[in-house]
Amino acid sequence: MPLLSVQNIFLKYAQTDEWLIKDMNFDAEKNDILLIKGPNGCGKTSLLSLLCGIIPKAIKGIIEGQILIDDIDISELTLPELSPLISMVFQEPEMQLSFPQVEQELAFGPENLKIPANEISKKIEDVSELLGIPELLKSDIAALSYGQKKLVAIASIFTLSPEIILLDEPADGLSEQSIQNVIKCVLHYKNDKLFIITSTTHVFDDIENRIITFS
Ligand SMILES: Nc1ncnc2c1ncn2[C@@H]1O[C@H](COP(=O)(O)OP(=O)(O)OP(=O)(O)O)[C@@H](O)[C@H]1O
Ligand SMILES: [Mg+2]
Repeated sequence: MPLLSVQNIFLKYAQTDEWLIKDMNFDAEKNDILLIKGPNGCGKTSLLSLLCGIIPKAIKGIIEGQILIDDIDISELTLPELSPLISMVFQEPEMQLSFPQVEQELAFGPENLKIPANEISKKIEDVSELLGIPELLKSDIAALSYGQKKLVAIASIFTLSPEIILLDEPADGLSEQSIQNVIKCVLHYKNDKLFIITSTTHVFDDIENRIITFS
């Protein structure tokens, strides 16, 4: 049984003749790093939103087909039930961040899952170290640069630590050093997670083991 199984998925946003995503099928396992490529507007973000249930649970869409995680059809789960299984780092960090301070943002996911406080502290320390942001932990999020917000948004999904992590254009707006830190973090956790990464650039080409290209 694959960790993730995408079966005959179709998506469109409104009653039009054309499907945006048309009969997509793939399986993926822990330790896989899938790269989703394709030009602007081809549907990469839409695919990730489908995989984590945001479409159709929060954003309307017309869909067909099935997405299974650990053999469970995700349509049977609520968004809070899905988030420890599969979560997405949004392309725009502002869409994701909801706390005044960085450390609060990083603690929210694991606190919600009732993880013991000492484990949460360790997780925050490890993730912020890997991403090169330990000095930001006490900062106000509103005072951060775009790139720093982006790193905090990425860090908050790593501290939540779902089985499947979706990263939507994670390199967008980051310095070369920060991109290398994101890659380091992905490789550090890769053995017990599935990563699905969209990118219009080539920065993740060396770490993927499979590519899905939209035509
Ligand atoms: N909520 C929505 N309602 C209607 N149409 C949408 C919605 N979100 C996206 N679209 C349209 O669906 C198409 C695919 O958008 P999507 O954001 O998935 O592409 P993308 O490959 O992620 O693009 P980019 O490379 O710019 O991030 C675009 O034509 C977009 O305008
Ligand atoms: Mg996108």
